[in-house]
Amino acid sequence: MNKLCSALVGLVVLSGCAINYPVPTASTPAPATASPSPSATPTPTGATEDAFSATGEVPRVLDPELLDGVVAALATRASTTSHVFATWPQFALPAIDGTLSGYYVATIRAFEKDYPSAGAVTPELNLGWRVLAASPSMVGIAADGYLFGGASGENLWRSFWFAPGSGAVFGLDDLLDHTATLAALRDAASARSIDLGEAGADPLSAAPLLAFGEGGSLIVGYDECQVATCADGRVTLAIPAERADTLLTPAGRQAREATTHPTDPAGTSTAAPTSDPSPGTSSTPTPTATSPSPTAPGSDRVNCRKKKCIALTFDDGPGPYTRTLLGHLSRKGVHATFFMLGQQVEMYPKVAKAVAAAGHEIGVHTWDHRSLPTLTPARIRTEITSTVRVIRRDTGTSPKYLRPPYGAMNADVHAAARKAGLAMVLWNVDTLDWKTRNTKKTVTAAVKQTRRGSIILVHDIHPTTVKAVPAIIDRLRAKGYTFVTVSQLLGPTTPGKKYFGGRTG
Ligand code: NI
Repeated sequence: MNKLCSALVGLVVLSGCAINYPVPTASTPAPATASPSPSATPTPTGATEDAFSATGEVPRVLDPELLDGVVAALATRASTTSHVFATWPQFALPAIDGTLSGYYVATIRAFEKDYPSAGAVTPELNLGWRVLAASPSMVGIAADGYLFGGASGENLWRSFWFAPGSGAVFGLDDLLDHTATLAALRDAASARSIDLGEAGADPLSAAPLLAFGEGGSLIVGYDECQVATCADGRVTLAIPAERADTLLTPAGRQAREATTHPTDPAGTSTAAPTSDPSPGTSSTPTPTATSPSPTAPGSDRVNCRKKKCIALTFDDGPGPYTRTLLGHLSRKGVHATFFMLGQQVEMYPKVAKAVAAAGHEIGVHTWDHRSLPTLTPARIRTEITSTVRVIRRDTGTSPKYLRPPYGAMNADVHAAARKAGLAMVLWNVDTLDWKTRNTKKTVTAAVKQTRRGSIILVHDIHPTTVKAVPAIIDRLRAKGYTFVTVSQLLGPTTPGKKYFGGRTG
């Protein structure tokens, strides 16, 4: 059993921990008046909205588009029996692909075993990924996840280091001098009065995350409840850059260099784009002069009283396949509606902007795909408002609709949507594209179920779905349907109210 599995199994034992909800992260800033945060959690200096949530110095996070040249595919997993939502990259390199898939799949299996779906609350596992470092000699990836067992929530993380050229995977001892690093780690812990004894005899090997800070410090990350009280959330210990110099192997130095001065791992560009670390991102979104002036969604003149209107809606993006999808839609002259996750907008701001610039409509699918009824009213509001904010900031458009993940709603969700001025838009054609992962089946499901007024649910994070889109459009047009945005389909809507489709006759 790997470390994470045992950590997951351990959660059962830890269910008495004094945590209700995860420490609010910089990515989901709660209103000061309604924050469920333990007051002990410091806000890391210079944190972007995309920063990890942790107590202590947080690892630097890079723009995932840096890896566009080396990511071969995106693996995803979802489950109907429990709420599992997992995404991770694949590089067409057997060793790292196997390592990553092994971790994600084992984590999902352990979750499904430990939290069988039963009772009123559906357990939930969200597992995504972050880019820690990028260069032709070294890439660092971190799994970043959230597990909700029904009573309490927990953030998870784990780092992976590999060479994009050779495909070699680097373990801890390939990157640093174990004994000397352990001594430095103990010093860092004692300076913060953290008892590393909680993590066993070798607290360096027990740490799930190894990464680097903005200024080149070596960061060792622990899971929640592993070395500190659960209320502290994930905890990091940082070894200053100068001392780290003496600990790192040549590969470790490459890993650090690829963090602080990232370059294109495919070597196709000399540019060294990095994430924008500007700390001012939490300010009020003001579309700047460089913001696109998108065609107002729904400005195409279509009369859905006369036409057989239907709406194509894409959930869970934007992601690495969204640009391809935009090409398909543009060639077919179709405007669609994208229900975006705030965390994906944060990862792919340029793609989000391109979606808006192409005249598509953008709605809110929450920040990180939580099942909203499991959250406090304050947290539900934050899930919505933080997503609205990044959509406005990065696309220059103001969303009008909320699509709650899994279609899961309760009175609090209705109230939060109403307060945010968003109508709730569900669907009445479920293609199950995320489950079949089959282009032909996705086309067939969409064509077979669609009627006048249909809202078709598909996901732009699956390449099989993106590939299905031209055929879906052609075949439904052949049946006399007209593709419109949700705004065009529904006409005026009422915030807080839910809609499954448009005019049926
Ligand atoms: Ni979704």
